[in-house]
Amino acid sequence: MPLLPARSGKVPRDAVHHPLFARCYARVSVRAETRLGMGQVRERLLRGLSGRVIEIGAGNGLNFGHYPGDVSEVVAIEPERRLRRLAVEAALRAEVPVDVVPGAAEALPVKSEGFDAAVVSLVLCSVRDVPRALGELRRVLRPGGEVRFFEHGRGGGRVMTFSQRALDRTLWPALSGGCHLSREPVRALRDAGFELGPYRRLLMPEQGPVLPASYCVLGTAWRPEASA
Ligand SMILES: C[S@@+](CC[C@H](N)C(=O)[O-])C[C@H]1O[C@@H](n2cnc3c(N)ncnc32)[C@H](O)[C@@H]1O
Repeated sequence: MPLLPARSGKVPRDAVHHPLFARCYARVSVRAETRLGMGQVRERLLRGLSGRVIEIGAGNGLNFGHYPGDVSEVVAIEPERRLRRLAVEAALRAEVPVDVVPGAAEALPVKSEGFDAAVVSLVLCSVRDVPRALGELRRVLRPGGEVRFFEHGRGGGRVMTFSQRALDRTLWPALSGGCHLSREPVRALRDAGFELGPYRRLLMPEQGPVLPASYCVLGTAWRPEASA
């Protein structure tokens, strides 16, 4: 789906512009698939999905190879230009149809209630406005539709949570493409009106040093059947 041209006739600036981060993420994330076990986590994240799926902030498309064959279509939203280009390449290799679309979580360029499931992995840390992004997610899911999430956030003892908050207020977001360390994805999903399904907390990497970004959660939530 192309971006609408601005009134001037020029293509509008990308909603997210982090060229240096994008370059680094494209390299580091591929290594993390095997070295940190991220490939296995993605497999668990997407297992059993079916129907039409929307993936928010798809990055370089590392989830695409893990979608099960029962998924009829993935619409993958990615605002960052370099990552989007890599996602398009990954989409060509995927076994399910994947359409990579520019756009931001806070204003999804798709119709309401058009999806059976939504996927967010390592994205809620980076969106500018979490409640708005989750409101959009709710809008585009059909009633009873499922959210699969793999996110990192606040965790550890007092020293760790203090460090996470301090980093969020200083260097971290600028260095890491707008990422925040001390967000609480499970609480945010609940506050946005999703019903929480099973979720489990895990450290990434599962072995080795515990870092401020290690505190992860992998799980499922639903848009309630009767929600507006
Ligand atoms: C750490 S990367 C994760 C990429 C991918 N989901 C994965 O699992 O590897 C964060 C991604 O969120 C995207 N992002 C940042 N702000 C966003 C926004 N407002 N809406 C949608 N995606 C956003 C970035 O461009 C980037 O692709």
